[in-house]
Amino acid sequence: MTNIKACLFDLDGVIVDTAKYHFIAWRELAAELGFEFTEENNERLKGVSRMTSLEILLEVGGVSLPEEKKIQLADQKNERYVSYIAKMTPDEILPGVVDFLNQLKKAGIKTAIGSASKNTPIILERLKLSHYFDAIIDGNKVSKAKPDPEVFLKGAEALGVLPSDCVVFEDAAAGIEAAINGGMRCVGIGQPEILGKANMVVPGFENFGLNELMKLGNGQ
Ligand code: BG6
Ligand code: MG
Repeated sequence: MTNIKACLFDLDGVIVDTAKYHFIAWRELAAELGFEFTEENNERLKGVSRMTSLEILLEVGGVSLPEEKKIQLADQKNERYVSYIAKMTPDEILPGVVDFLNQLKKAGIKTAIGSASKNTPIILERLKLSHYFDAIIDGNKVSKAKPDPEVFLKGAEALGVLPSDCVVFEDAAAGIEAAINGGMRCVGIGQPEILGKANMVVPGFENFGLNELMKLGNGQ
């Protein structure tokens, strides 16, 4: 293997499609506040923290509220979201993910989660994936949101690997920026139009394995 010693994975949108549950919970909150929140609006929330997501939602609805009320609404949305994700099963792991994680394990490449979500532990537990990762850095452990590289730098540190020896997998533009800002290579999961700054963009893990990973391994 080349100089790739660790793979760092974003969670939402990379390992599992939780965006649909976030969307339902945010849309219900918007409806209660008296406005419509569309799937297109929801795109803006990908990779963004819970409180910033609420700010964007309120901006869409043209609603301004005191801080205390915002915290209450964010909690309310989260309770709903948690009630949805609490029913998730391993069937919802995105295609090819487990296979790729197994390939990494066999090749001795370390793995970590680097996610903004404070619900990371419950999601990994529902998907029965917690034991696959050597380190889990989530929204409970970081103070700076992507595109700040904190979440990935902490991941690399926890694994004892240099940032330059890590590859990040991300579905959000802010996450790709975070990887670049941290001095890491990155693979975009999704559309090249959105993730163009990544070293490589693929639609998912179905046709992605060690061979494809190695293409990034020449220190580019
Ligand atoms: C990110 C999601 O992974 O986590 C965002 O892409 C979400 O949409 C953020 O807002 C925070 O998640 P949570 O679970 O802490 O509300
Ligand atoms: Mg994501």
